[in-house]
Amino acid sequence: METQIVQIDEQNIDDRAKEILARAGSIIKQGGLVAFPTETVYGLGGDGLNPESSKKIYAAKGRPSDNPLIVHVADMEAVEKIVEEVPEAAYKLAKAFWPGPLTLIMKKNGKVPYETTGGLDTVAIRMPSNRIAMELIKQSGGYIAAPSANTSGRPSPTLASHCIEDLSGKIEMIIDGGAVGIGLESTIIDLTSDTPMILRPGYITPKMLSDVLGSVDIDRTIIDSTSTQKPKAPGMKYRHYAPKGQLTIVEGSQDAVIAYINARSKEAAAKGQRVGIIGTDATKGLYNADVIKSVGKREDEETIAHELFKVLREFDEENVDVMFSESFDDSGLGQAIMNRLLKAAGHNKVVV
Ligand code: TXA
Ligand code: MG
Repeated sequence: METQIVQIDEQNIDDRAKEILARAGSIIKQGGLVAFPTETVYGLGGDGLNPESSKKIYAAKGRPSDNPLIVHVADMEAVEKIVEEVPEAAYKLAKAFWPGPLTLIMKKNGKVPYETTGGLDTVAIRMPSNRIAMELIKQSGGYIAAPSANTSGRPSPTLASHCIEDLSGKIEMIIDGGAVGIGLESTIIDLTSDTPMILRPGYITPKMLSDVLGSVDIDRTIIDSTSTQKPKAPGMKYRHYAPKGQLTIVEGSQDAVIAYINARSKEAAAKGQRVGIIGTDATKGLYNADVIKSVGKREDEETIAHELFKVLREFDEENVDVMFSESFDDSGLGQAIMNRLLKAAGHNKVVV
């Protein structure tokens, strides 16, 4: 299949852009797939109420079909039509954070096919704030099922070029809307349990959620790397990034981390191995290795969220045998950053 690649400027949705979005919408209504930007990561969109579309999404990503998709909507009425009941907490959270990087899990009704929910009786729903995404949802019949637009096992795409790498030839269209704003996938909160429970950390932090809801739980498996329990979000059990070289996260004071990584890098180089290092703007110049990349500024976590997946993807091209990364503060947005980084490292972390 030939994949059309089109460009739209989110800040300038003119007649040409609207015409493209109408075309993209009819592709989705007819059962085809379109990759599009959201404020978190790029999504791979199909009609969320069409079981055949969801099957195509799993096939294009190479994703296990027990891993449910998020349904993207453009208004609250759309939510009311596909769930058994909208809990009070959902209205509160939608008022506070939608459109935005938060996904709500509720009990689905018969309109949502099991193909979309990976066989579950619940459905994950999100209203994105990206204007291209919002317009596309409206043009597509109101319900776009969209996982991140990467091949299963690779980091989520934060640029259209990442979608092109993974999905070119497999889907009808890729909408290039430039770099995404946030860079990490949405926070997921399950509203079907007595106390709402965070299943995936993201830009909307536990503190922001508990300020609205009073109290929230967090699925321990996503913050405790030693937990052997199964995560409640099926997708969280899969490794998101399998670097060719083993990634080790190193935690400690800045001086100790740099000294440790440089010593390990020297040892590896002596064995003829190629070494990659993930540092920050402030430390990048202090390492010795074949490939050294900065993931952003430690004092501005949003820069790290924005760059992390891109940097992980860049290492795929570098053929390194071993990789080391600095560790980041595990609070606020740092919780989401460390969750993704630990997954990439297969939970391999040393404290020095
Ligand atoms: O920011 C995002 O959420 C992006 C953009 C495109 O919106 N989407 C995204 O989708 O990250 P995906 O499919 O890569 O991740 C969805 C996660 C998976 O871990 C999946 O298991 C979980 O959501 N999930 C979906 N429906 C669920 C449900 N009913 N119950 C529990 N977990 C669910
Ligand atoms: Mg994903």
